[in-house]
Amino acid sequence: MAEEKGKKMKRSEANTVGSTNASKTASPAARPAGAAAKASEGSLNLQNLEVFYDKFRAVNNVSLNIEPKKVTALIGPSGCGKSTLLRALNRMHETIPNATVKGTITLDGIDVYGPLVDPVRVRRVIGMVFQKPNPFPTMSIFGNVASGLRLAGASSKGEIAGIVEESLKKAALWNEVKDKLNEPGTSLSGGQQQRLCIARAIAVRPEVILMDEPCSALDPIATLKIEELIRELRTEYTIVIVTHNMQQASRVSDSTAFFSMGEDRGGYLVESGLTPQIFTAPTQQLTEDYVAGRFG
Ligand SMILES: Nc1ncnc2c1ncn2[C@@H]1O[C@H](COP(=O)(O)OP(=O)(O)OP(=O)(O)O)[C@@H](O)[C@H]1O
Ligand SMILES: [Mg+2]
Repeated sequence: MAEEKGKKMKRSEANTVGSTNASKTASPAARPAGAAAKASEGSLNLQNLEVFYDKFRAVNNVSLNIEPKKVTALIGPSGCGKSTLLRALNRMHETIPNATVKGTITLDGIDVYGPLVDPVRVRRVIGMVFQKPNPFPTMSIFGNVASGLRLAGASSKGEIAGIVEESLKKAALWNEVKDKLNEPGTSLSGGQQQRLCIARAIAVRPEVILMDEPCSALDPIATLKIEELIRELRTEYTIVIVTHNMQQASRVSDSTAFFSMGEDRGGYLVESGLTPQIFTAPTQQLTEDYVAGRFG
């Protein structure tokens, strides 16, 4: 075990997710702002993951492979730890004072929690879109999308404008906003704001995009637009989406992981597999009951 840890640290030092010397490496965080991830990049592996709030274990011993350039849906009843697990994937939980993580998470074989890894860079490589659209309130549409670019290495105005346009196009928002880029991000409709947040995440060239119930605040038409967008984005990004909507999970995802809660309220992984299998031929009765809407 000690040797194992040692190996991990050496790898982290040589080629980490967002390590402080990343500019000398091939790590995703060192990728120039204009360069896309390779086809095989964006594979997440969770080994014996546990997440605690003080002593309460909200996520219990989860081991899961998340395939690159695919959509993985996380489903399960309220309180089973889906958001908690999602936040652990890009170290976002570190912003919650009493939250701690045990176990291993790797991105393309590199320990996300390696000792030299910069959590801010991890959050750029593994971006996140929240339930409620959250454009930066003081920033324009352009400013929202450009906000992370300088940090990611983009320097010239022309380069930044090009990436903003490309990101808004990829987020299927360009045609609706190209004539009003200087208006506040908050002036857009809810569905447009969510696509703006997706454009903001895309602009810094992530490998993975985490989405926590990204459509739950949206009307059905805006929801369909986001679903269509998710299907398009999966050619370039690994997407992990939490959803309570079973139809949505079956429409957008390639794989599904079903979570439930134990008697101690700790969330655990019941089973995972290709989405058609989980929805039509799950191996566990609990999964069958949940996807059939019998509880949750
Ligand atoms: N900041 C926190 N401090 C303490 N406990 C928390 C905190 N956030 C979540 N929890 C607890 O952790 C457990 C998992 O919560 P989490 O929000 O991850 O569930 P979820 O599956 O995303 O639920 P939902 O479907 O309702 O969004 C719950 O018991 C919750 O009360
Ligand atoms: Mg949640």
